[in-house]
Amino acid sequence: MEGDVSSGPNTRIAAVTGGNKGIGLEVCRQLASHGVTVVLTARDETRGAEAVEKLRAVGLADIIFHQLDITDPSSIATLVDFLKTRFGKLDILVNNAAVGGVEYLQELDASEEKFAGMDFDEMLEWMVKNVREPIDGAKEGLQINYYGTKHVTEAVLPLLQSSSDGRIVNVSSIFGLLRLISNEEVRQELSDIDNLTDERLNELLDKFLEDFEADALEARGWPAKFSAYKVAKAAINAYSRMLARRHPELRVNCAHPGYVRTEITMSSGVLTPEEGARNVVKVALLPDGGPTGKYFAEGEEASFV
Ligand SMILES: NC(=O)c1ccc[n+]([C@@H]2O[C@H](COP(=O)([O-])OP(=O)(O)OC[C@H]3O[C@@H](n4cnc5c(N)ncnc54)[C@H](OP(=O)(O)O)[C@@H]3O)[C@@H](O)[C@H]2O)c1
Repeated sequence: MEGDVSSGPNTRIAAVTGGNKGIGLEVCRQLASHGVTVVLTARDETRGAEAVEKLRAVGLADIIFHQLDITDPSSIATLVDFLKTRFGKLDILVNNAAVGGVEYLQELDASEEKFAGMDFDEMLEWMVKNVREPIDGAKEGLQINYYGTKHVTEAVLPLLQSSSDGRIVNVSSIFGLLRLISNEEVRQELSDIDNLTDERLNELLDKFLEDFEADALEARGWPAKFSAYKVAKAAINAYSRMLARRHPELRVNCAHPGYVRTEITMSSGVLTPEEGARNVVKVALLPDGGPTGKYFAEGEEASFV
């Protein structure tokens, strides 16, 4: 469902991954409200098309759906062909799609009543207690959250370079901060952006999975609870910094939306998807010539550590 959009030569074009729900859907809505033509992508055609309809119903016409499973090379290639043929460039890529990398022990219940009276830390503790971390979930977490994000990014790089102001916003997390990794060597390697390579990053992730399978996460200083999610986000942060150095012509930044009530948090959290998305869109729409290789927590520049 590609629809009729009215983008002129100066209209900015954005692609958003995982745009069918949660923060991603709101990012699409807010970017479109700022006059950006948005390619809302989702891995599921039906869910994606329904999301676009929802936005069109509130008067946002410049939104197009295109299927994208970020772990599927042919799906990525099809999206790239579409963007190239239709627009010849991409101005903004928002890498939003992700999974928790865990098995949830509670049915999703968006009523939020069970959180009444809980503060931030109590909700976080509740969430952490209500997940299990099987190795398959951890592997999927790395495949989607790190490798999928990276493969989409690499595939659209030439299109971003065809823009006069190409931007990438990697939706990251406070869970990706280096302080959560107590293994000093790993922390050091992930912060040494001058010497870190893609190959070394892959090796570190392989090592994480090896330690996971050997039940040695704690002993080796990897983060506990949502461990694959945390490691994948730390890897995305490092990758974003490497990419920013390699491509000074682009703005590549990471954005933590805040603790938001979506499916990934089992509807726990302190912000609405609209509030969380605002923190991402702010980074996507920073003024020309703004920062690159940075991390923004709830809209403000902060430390990767
Ligand atoms: N919520 C928070 O508190 C919080 C905090 C920090 C960071 N974040 C980050 O915010 C981003 C959005 O998360 P959310 O809270 O909005 O969660 P969400 O409601 O669970 O949405 C996740 C989105 O990612 C999509 N997705 C998952 N795997 C995909 C794949 N292989 N290909 C394409 N799309 C895929 C999902 O599609 P389906 O509907 O098909 O599953 C869904 O659209 C994520 O990067 C998350 O890590 C969230």
